Amino acid sequence: MWVFRGLSGPRAPAQLQQGLLAAWCRCCRASSSYSASAQPSRVRALVYGNHGDPAKVVQLKNLELAAVGGSDVRVRMLAAPINPSDINMIQGNYGLLPKLPAVGGNEGVGEVIEVGSSVTGLKPGDWVIPANAGLGTWRTEAVFSGEALIRVPGDIPLQSAATLGVNPCTAYRMLMDFEQLQPGDSVIQNASNSGVGQAVIQIAAALGLRTINVVRDRPDIQKLTDRLKNLGAEHVVTEEELRLPETKNIFQDMPQPRLALNCVGGKSSTELLRHLAPGGTMVTYGGMAKQPVIASVSLLIFKDLKLRGFWLSQWKKKHSPDEFKELIFTLCELIRQGQLTAPSCSEIPLQDYQQALEASMKPFVSSKQILTM
Ligand SMILES: NC(=O)c1ccc[n+]([C@@H]2O[C@H](COP(=O)([O-])OP(=O)(O)OC[C@H]3O[C@@H](n4cnc5c(N)ncnc54)[C@H](OP(=O)(O)O)[C@@H]3O)[C@@H](O)[C@H]2O)c1
Repeated sequence: MWVFRGLSGPRAPAQLQQGLLAAWCRCCRASSSYSASAQPSRVRALVYGNHGDPAKVVQLKNLELAAVGGSDVRVRMLAAPINPSDINMIQGNYGLLPKLPAVGGNEGVGEVIEVGSSVTGLKPGDWVIPANAGLGTWRTEAVFSGEALIRVPGDIPLQSAATLGVNPCTAYRMLMDFEQLQPGDSVIQNASNSGVGQAVIQIAAALGLRTINVVRDRPDIQKLTDRLKNLGAEHVVTEEELRLPETKNIFQDMPQPRLALNCVGGKSSTELLRHLAPGGTMVTYGGMAKQPVIASVSLLIFKDLKLRGFWLSQWKKKHSPDEFKELIFTLCELIRQGQLTAPSCSEIPLQDYQQALEASMKPFVSSKQILTM
């Protein structure tokens, strides 16, 4: 839900301040309101008017905040991560693209400042996260529709709240929805140091599942291995090690995985398939290598492997808001019990967004960039 007046201030082009502004907000009316206020508040936001290289098209702008309508909620954003999907959206190659100009960012946590007269279930001081993608979280403050927000407990760490709504949800659903796994069963995944990968390791450990975690080799591989093992990873292997015949020895004392989680595609996914148990499922949820998944014919015929895909946005369309809230509640319980921590993060002030965007697109950084407001 987008509820703001649009670009303003001395740096906004006159064209944007007039015609385009109205068009911008009309196009967003399906999910937001746009109202004039006598003394609009100014907020800062990372806005893009065209698709392209995030370093070039994203700009810090001043926006005017809309008045709070009956069903609206005024939110002060606290922290918002930069995820690969945010980058893909700005580049214009994601499954869901907001109308432009748009405020970047799909997840994050904010504090409720004010609620409209008909809003129930939210009050000033509550922490909230977006219910769906496309909210535009990279901004200091916003007026959203109450329905666009989900309350999260204020007693979980800020970084956990800011990164709760996408990656841990994806990890949990993939572990639960494709194979009926029992404690002691194993799961194999690639890009295991990603935000999703770290959540998979921890949620799997909490469920009693054993994980084989594939990562790309790097000079400080031991440090990364230690970090993932501290989270609960049983095995951490590099892409190269996974191809060695002796890697199969891992399965002398643990069952072959019936579930593989593929974030990468290309050769990496072909290798995951080689290690799956007969009848097992590989779920593809990311394509970081930008290469297709290639499955060997013999594996499909003789092992009857299943290739599936997962997209959280699609899952939300097929499930009710209450089911999503229940998922968030389950994950918050894991956080409270110390079984699920935020991914390794770097907090970067909003005004240093260029640095954060660059770091988010570099390989081997192993740290989620979180914009702090
Ligand atoms: N389908 C869904 O519902 C859903 C939900 C959440 C996320 N995702 C997707 O999941 C993926 C990970 O998201 P995230 O937020 O967890 O990411 P992240 O924390 O930013 O981590 C990115 C990961 O990708 C790896 N990587 C980057 N380029 C690579 C390449 N060329 N080959 C192999 N690995 C590469 C990185 O490894 P290095 O350290 O080696 O660079 C790192 O492990 C993204 O594609 C995202 O869109 C999908």
